[in-house]
Amino acid sequence: MGVALIGFMGCGKTTVGQTVGIELGWQFWDTDILIEQMYGPISRIFETEGEKRFREIESSVITRLKIIPETIISTGGGAVIRPENMQYLKNFCQTIWLKRNITDILKRPGPDPDRPLWIADNQKMTELYLKRSVLYQKYADIIIENKNLRQTIDLVRNYAIDSLRLK
Ligand code: S3P
Repeated sequence: MGVALIGFMGCGKTTVGQTVGIELGWQFWDTDILIEQMYGPISRIFETEGEKRFREIESSVITRLKIIPETIISTGGGAVIRPENMQYLKNFCQTIWLKRNITDILKRPGPDPDRPLWIADNQKMTELYLKRSVLYQKYADIIIENKNLRQTIDLVRNYAIDSLRLK
């Protein structure tokens, strides 16, 4: 099986997925990057077509991924909202909730055009984080806390190697 990283915005999914992909020589997909390559900037999709359309695009990209065993996938923080996304990924992947505490996440520089749901309101961000955390917990095969990047990469890499044994 491959590996899919799930977790909140700013928890390090892209960096960790890309690095593990390079170190293992695995195929790496970042669903936000694929969306942008196919449909243009995420900020534009949200602005002109709305979040609902973004979620449709996200699902169509996720559920068409060709997932061979040696694949690592970084998903967008909201990919867990639609059960079909998770059902599809879980057919081919072990899922890792890359967990980072909200205090550390909020230390990142503020609003980012490619993260339209990242708002400069810590209270609202915390509410979204708690709501989403229920779903990350529900769909995760394991949880890895991203406290130290190098250690996290090593843990994900080892888990990915072990996942190859699973069908
Ligand atoms: C989103 C997270 C983003 C991106 C989009 C929506 C979300 O991905 O997919 O802005 O709903 O949490 P990252 O988790 O990579 O920031």
